Amino acid sequence: MASTHGAEVLVASNRGPVSYETGEDGSLRAKRGGGGLVSGLSAIGPETNAVWVCAALGDGDRAAVRRAEGGLLPESDTGGQRVRMLDIDPEVFAAAYNGIANSVLWFVHHMLYQTPLEPVFDSEFRRQWAAYEAYNRAFANALAEEAGEGAAVLIQDYHLALAPRMLRRLRPDLRIGHFSHTPWAPAEYFRLLPDDIAAELLTGILGADRAAFLTRRWADAFTECCHAVLGPGIPAGTRIGVHGLGADADFLRERSHRPDVAERMAALRAEIGEGRRTIVRVDRTELSKNIVRGLLAYRQLLDEHPEWWEKVVHVAFAYPSRQDLAVYRDYTAEVQRVAEEINSAYGTPGWIPVVLHVKDDFARSLAAYRLADVALVNPIRDGMNLVAKEVPVVSDEGCVLVLSREAGAHEEMGEDALTVNPYDITGTAETLHTALTMPAEERAERSKRLAAAGTALPPARWFLDQLHALDDQSS
Ligand code: F6P
Repeated sequence: MASTHGAEVLVASNRGPVSYETGEDGSLRAKRGGGGLVSGLSAIGPETNAVWVCAALGDGDRAAVRRAEGGLLPESDTGGQRVRMLDIDPEVFAAAYNGIANSVLWFVHHMLYQTPLEPVFDSEFRRQWAAYEAYNRAFANALAEEAGEGAAVLIQDYHLALAPRMLRRLRPDLRIGHFSHTPWAPAEYFRLLPDDIAAELLTGILGADRAAFLTRRWADAFTECCHAVLGPGIPAGTRIGVHGLGADADFLRERSHRPDVAERMAALRAEIGEGRRTIVRVDRTELSKNIVRGLLAYRQLLDEHPEWWEKVVHVAFAYPSRQDLAVYRDYTAEVQRVAEEINSAYGTPGWIPVVLHVKDDFARSLAAYRLADVALVNPIRDGMNLVAKEVPVVSDEGCVLVLSREAGAHEEMGEDALTVNPYDITGTAETLHTALTMPAEERAERSKRLAAAGTALPPARWFLDQLHALDDQSS
């Protein structure tokens, strides 16, 4: 197969490092993405001359693809990365992304189904599955075209579980890695998927030379699924690895001291009120984040500890995500409803118990991190959770981290965090009380250790480790 750019290193992910919006005058505006993958690749991308293959997510992206010369987006838009964006048929994309990735695979790995009514694997599901296969095939074809002889290809996440095997068939010469950013479901739960689909997902990933996960727990769950579904388990040709992903300390410290963050701190302080303690959370409004139970725990804290009335504020930033799907929209509405209910039950003219913001604003998130006395991170399940790692680095006075035992970050940070069972509202309420009353010295010491643990594996290292591990037969 002809190689277009002959890249030696390739990355594939659904969401790329840039997205485009169309202005009123029809012009395209590029917006750079955030997250660990973007920072990891930004650090090494130019050096390795990597090509990043991603999907066009909306009309702005599609217009940018049509305009791209030689198949790659202008490097002025991508921070110097070589990016090939795929214009996949919008219906195929929607069925693969909304239908399978966000409604089935996300739900399976985060164990979110509300049985007995869900899930439903019927003919509509099969139609969406065919789209998911087509979407994965589009990535495999593009990667096969772009890769030079023997290149290293790092395929990311549950959107692209089938691509490794498809690519292996097209290009047996390539070294292929797959990385899962989510938890992996336990075998009994994973097996609620139809048997053929469960097998296709596993053998798809096993097409890679190396399948890697954020924690040992998720890697072990994957291995267990292979045994339960496929019988013989992991084939000799595939290695299983673990690479934790940490926060980028240098970036966060510098970024959180810029003037736009200071401005937002002043505005937030005015909303919070003088001398009050803060419990901060920042999430996408997505069901696994468990925002509603967090609010209910805060409500119970106020119920059972009236000494906190007027003295504490829950700063909750819940940024809408995947709003094309009713289940995510309903969840966003529920978060707002519960926050309003708490405010009308407890609020006073000078005190808003829950300061909820839903408009995504990174500078304001950093401002909240700086003001945090307590960080609440209570997901039902989470591959890692970078907020848990970021707040201790940024908080001005050091913070207490209240952390779900079901977050991947708990493996590295459990010792100095206060651990909660995410379903236990009473337990979470009491832990919030313990966090708010922790002596300043203990809080500062724990926070320092949390910051060190949370930044031990910066994104560039995470990325490079994966790359090196592809060549190292012992890892
Ligand atoms: O947690 C896994 C992950 O792929 C993240 O890397 C990413 O933030 C999210 O899931 C995908 O979200 P979205 O559907 O908004 O692209």
